[in-house]
Amino acid sequence: MRTVSHRFGPGLADPWDDVRVSTTWVEPSGTATALLLLGRGSDPGAERGVSCPGALPAPSDPDLVERARVAREKLGDDLFVLGHHYQRDEVIQFADVTGDSFKLAQQAAARPQARWIVFCGVHFMAESADILTADHQQVILPDLAAGCSMADMAALSQVETAWEHLTDLGLADRTVPVTYMNSSAAIKAFVGRRGGLVCTSSNAKRALEWAFERGDKVLFLPDQHLGRNTAVLQLGMSLSDCVVWDPHQPHGGLSEADLARARMVLWRGHCSVHGRFTLDCVTEVRQRVPGVQVLVHPECRYEVVEAADHVGSTEQIIRTIREAPPGSAWAVGTELNLVRRLAHEHPDKQVMFLDRTVCYCSTMNRIDLPHLVWSLEELVAGRVVNRIQVDPDTAHYARVALDRMLALP
Ligand code: 13P
Ligand code: SF4
Repeated sequence: MRTVSHRFGPGLADPWDDVRVSTTWVEPSGTATALLLLGRGSDPGAERGVSCPGALPAPSDPDLVERARVAREKLGDDLFVLGHHYQRDEVIQFADVTGDSFKLAQQAAARPQARWIVFCGVHFMAESADILTADHQQVILPDLAAGCSMADMAALSQVETAWEHLTDLGLADRTVPVTYMNSSAAIKAFVGRRGGLVCTSSNAKRALEWAFERGDKVLFLPDQHLGRNTAVLQLGMSLSDCVVWDPHQPHGGLSEADLARARMVLWRGHCSVHGRFTLDCVTEVRQRVPGVQVLVHPECRYEVVEAADHVGSTEQIIRTIREAPPGSAWAVGTELNLVRRLAHEHPDKQVMFLDRTVCYCSTMNRIDLPHLVWSLEELVAGRVVNRIQVDPDTAHYARVALDRMLALP
C-alpha cells in the first residue's frame, strides 16, 4: 500500500506528517461491517443503481436552468415532478411537490392525470411511486445510479434466510415483519406477503403499534436505528427487548434464546449519512453554542437521539424550524442539502449542521440538473428514459404492505 505526504516548502512543518493517506484501496471482503458498493454487482440480490446510459448535457452549460424550464412547460400537466427534501437546490426548484418519503408516496398516488412522474429522489422511492400509481403512468428516475446504501443492506435472499430460521424455531407465526420505506420493492413484497407493513420515519410508532396488535415480535428491516429508537424511546421498550440480526453471521449471530425473548429483531442496516452523527457532535455543539437545541432524524444512532432535544422525520424537522422563535439556535442532524436550505430560508434563526464535517447523501446528490434536463428533454422528444417499473407480482404484494401503511390511523 502506497502512502503520500504533502510538502509545505522549506522550513515549514508538514501538518500532515502524522497522517498517511492511502492511495490504494482494496474492496472489503463480505465481513459484517463491509458496505455493499453501488453498481459493482457485489450483491446482485439487493436493490442497486446502474450507470446512466444517457448523453447528458455538460454541467457547465449556462442554459441548463432555461432548458429545464422550457421542457417542463412543453410537457405541461402530463408531467409531475416530485422532489425529496435531500435533493440539491438546483433540482428542487423544479419540483411540483417537495416532501419526505411519506408525503411523496401519498402525492405520487394523488395525481392520476400526469402521464410521467419524474422522481427526484432515490430508487426505492421511485419504485414505491410506480407501485402506487396507475398503469397508464410511468415513473422516471433521472439517474439510475441514485440508489440507497441502507436499502442495499437488506437483500431478499438474506431476509428469506432469516425468516426460515424464525420458522424453524417456531417463532415466525408470532412475528410481524415491518419494513422501513427505505427498502427495495422485493422486501416490501416479502413483508406484504407475510402480514406486515411498510413504515416511514413519520409513522414508525403507529406502524409498530399496528404490528404488536397482531403479533408479539417484530422483524424490523432494514434500519436498526429507526427500529430501536421507535421501540425504546416512543413505545417504552427496553434496550434488552431489542436484538440485532446480522445477515453476515450464521443465524444472524443470535442464539435461540436471544430470538425467543426479543420483542424487536432489528436488521443490521443503517443510513450512511445519519449514522455519522455521534454523541461527541452533540456534546461539542452544546459547549460551542449556549442554548442550542439539537434536532435529529430518527435514523441517527440511539445515543444521539437520546441526547438530542427533538427527533423527527424530515417534514417534522422542517416544521420545527419554521415554528421556532426568531433568535433561537438549532443544530440539525440530517442531510446537508436540507440543513443548508433551512439555514437559508430562516436567516432570523441560527440553523447549523450538527456535524462539523460535510455529510451529503451521495446518492441523493446524483440527481443533478444535467440528469433532470436530459430526462425531461427526452420526454419532449417522445422517449421515456430510466423508467422504474416493478414487476406485477412484486408490485401487488408491495402495495399490500404500502396500503396497510397508508391506512394507519
Ligand atoms: P424521510 O424522508 O422519511 O424523513 O427519510 C429520510 C431518508 O433518509 C430518505 O432517504
Ligand atoms: Fe439512503 Fe440515508 Fe441517503 Fe436516505 S439519506 S437515501 S437512507 S443513504
